[in-house]
Amino acid sequence: MYSGDIASVLITEQDIQDKTAELAKLVAADYPEGGEEDLILVGVLKGAVMFMTDLARALPVPSQLEFMAVSSYGSATTSSGVVRILKDLDRDITGRHVLIVEDIVDSGLTLSWLMRNLATRNPASLAVCSLLRKPDAVKVDVPVAYVGFDIPNEFVVGYGLDYGERYRDLPYIATLAPHVYEG
Ligand code: XMP
Ligand code: MG
Repeated sequence: MYSGDIASVLITEQDIQDKTAELAKLVAADYPEGGEEDLILVGVLKGAVMFMTDLARALPVPSQLEFMAVSSYGSATTSSGVVRILKDLDRDITGRHVLIVEDIVDSGLTLSWLMRNLATRNPASLAVCSLLRKPDAVKVDVPVAYVGFDIPNEFVVGYGLDYGERYRDLPYIATLAPHVYEG
């Protein structure tokens, strides 16, 4: 599949699954099953879909799935800083424990905007779980409670991440061969 387009595999399918299980344990320890209402996972479309569904299935505590779509990128590979809500939550999160599930935190602009936006809705708690984090993200003041992998500052695809809507369906994280960008 996509033969010739992949330059190198950065994170294998097995590594992703192992890490997801690890993160699920950490999350479950912080949100024990009990008298309160279920944890709400807010997945950021479309990139976080694969990670979110795997994380939810790995979690040993109940969670409910909600989705938001925001746009910060257009079709380019660098952050614009402009965030727009394309699809909002379907429900009220007042008084609920909310965990934002992200595919990747790069500049952190999208996430810091999203955190501020969701915080105004008065959730009981608000935290972030991201599968990937790039070095620039460490510079901004966005607390990511759970991080899967810190990766180099390269554009990556697979496992939800796309280039021009392609490669989301790869089960691993990879870098693309230069000819793909050259068209
Ligand atoms: P910021 O810079 O706001 O960006 O933290 C977060 C969003 O940008 C996208 N993004 C990427 N998408 N490969 C991708 O396919 C990448 O290497 C990459 N870096 C950032 C992604 O949508 C993320 O939610
Ligand atoms: Mg994208």
